[in-house]
Amino acid sequence: MSLLKLSAAAGCVIFGGLQIAPGPRLSNPPVRPERTLEANLEVPSEVTAILNRSCRDCHSNETRWPWYSHVAPVKWLIAKDVEKARGIMNFSEWSDNAGKRLESAIGMLAASCADVTVGRMPKPDYAMLHTEAKLDKEDVKQFCAWSQKEGKRLLVLKRKKAAEQ
Ligand code: HEC
Repeated sequence: MSLLKLSAAAGCVIFGGLQIAPGPRLSNPPVRPERTLEANLEVPSEVTAILNRSCRDCHSNETRWPWYSHVAPVKWLIAKDVEKARGIMNFSEWSDNAGKRLESAIGMLAASCADVTVGRMPKPDYAMLHTEAKLDKEDVKQFCAWSQKEGKRLLVLKRKKAAEQ
């Protein structure tokens, strides 16, 4: 057998082995309606549309797992990203996660506007594969106008709460 054939065969064996190796489970935990971002913040439909097409695959329990996300080793990278993203901000578990405390919700809204403005979010490697996720200037303007308005509303709420104590 030639060296080329041999290394191709070895490659197949390794690739096949990776597929059966125990890896992360690509799961979508259940969504409880009362805990979602939409149930806890005022979100106009045009902003929901932006969140759906640019953020939801990573920052929610409603991830659409593409076919290549089932193929190791890509699977591990994607699963890791989604796990990290959900840990930081999960739209499906907003009231238990980023929105649990008013100050963290306010911070997350501000960070989100900053991230979409500089193009850090949606993650560039994701946006390259999902062109519909890309946000243009108008989308960013709309997103930040909303996040700033909601941030201010929550700040007023926080001050009110503090005054009551
Ligand atoms: C491909 C997955 C993916 C998508 C899509 C995505 N994010 Fe993220 N996001 C992450 C990961 C992973 C982190 C964790 C930290 C990191 O890697 O930067 C993160 C972190 C964040 C943070 C945490 C604070 C920070 O600035 O570090 C914010 C805010 C955020 N994302 C907002 C968004 C918004 C808003 C969208 C949609 C416009 C979005 N993300 C789309 C994966 C994603």
